[in-house]
Amino acid sequence: MDQGGEPAAARAVPRHVACVMDGNGRWAQRRSLPRTAGHRAAEATVVEIIETARSAGVEWLTLYAFSTENWKRPGAEVDYLMGLVRRVVRKHAPLLLARGIRCRFLGVTDPRIPLGLAQDFADLTTLTDGNRGMTLTVAFDHGGRRDIVEAARSLIRSGTPADEVTEDLFAQHLPFPDTPDVDLVIRTSGEQRISNFMLWKVAYAEWTFPDVLWPDFRAPDFLACLDTYRRRDRRFGDVPPPTNGDPR
Ligand code: IPE
Ligand code: IPE
Ligand code: MG
Repeated sequence: MDQGGEPAAARAVPRHVACVMDGNGRWAQRRSLPRTAGHRAAEATVVEIIETARSAGVEWLTLYAFSTENWKRPGAEVDYLMGLVRRVVRKHAPLLLARGIRCRFLGVTDPRIPLGLAQDFADLTTLTDGNRGMTLTVAFDHGGRRDIVEAARSLIRSGTPADEVTEDLFAQHLPFPDTPDVDLVIRTSGEQRISNFMLWKVAYAEWTFPDVLWPDFRAPDFLACLDTYRRRDRRFGDVPPPTNGDPR
């Protein structure tokens, strides 16, 4: 499943960590603030988690920022998010470049995305393309099912005979095929669902559901999730290796 290199099971630090950044609205509601205040407060967490993941040796970090379903939200909230993400991308571009972080944006196909924002995404991607530190993927206007349907379309267009379609070949038609499978998903706020996130690449991910809202999620909480991961026993469908005490 893991594409290349050392098997995921042998790693103490997960190679690819993905965060479903959930709970901004509830963070604001608990303070009698508008939901948008929760999104604004999320910025500090995003910056801290990027730094913490990089220092911990995580090679791939994916942040789920906006789903294909989030377009259902009130127009004012969607507009606020578009503006906020634009400000955050512009503000932190120099830091990301200085830290050697390669940035990518997963999704970004809906015509409702403001042109200026799409251009900022493209500019940050180009600016950091030569970086060889951690790869940060921001899933924005992302839907796992849409990616799978697009991959199927791409395969059909390529004229591949049905009998030659394998899992590896299919994965080559997904966006960013060089991205390894997700090892650990952290979904904050206590919600325990996938919400259409990277469906193909989370097939064998470990999941943690810290009971902390995203704006309150800090470096120690992230490191606690890495610790939980370290204590998990990843089997990938196999049986655990035999120990001396096992019956023959
Ligand atoms: C996550 O926080 C941010 C986005 C989905 C953009 P929410 O806005 O979903 O916060 P809750 O779940 O309503 O608390
Ligand atoms: C998932 O959170 C999407 C992001 C965090 C960007 P949601 O808050 O939109 O998910 P549901 O609606 O609770 O499943
Ligand atoms: Mg939510």
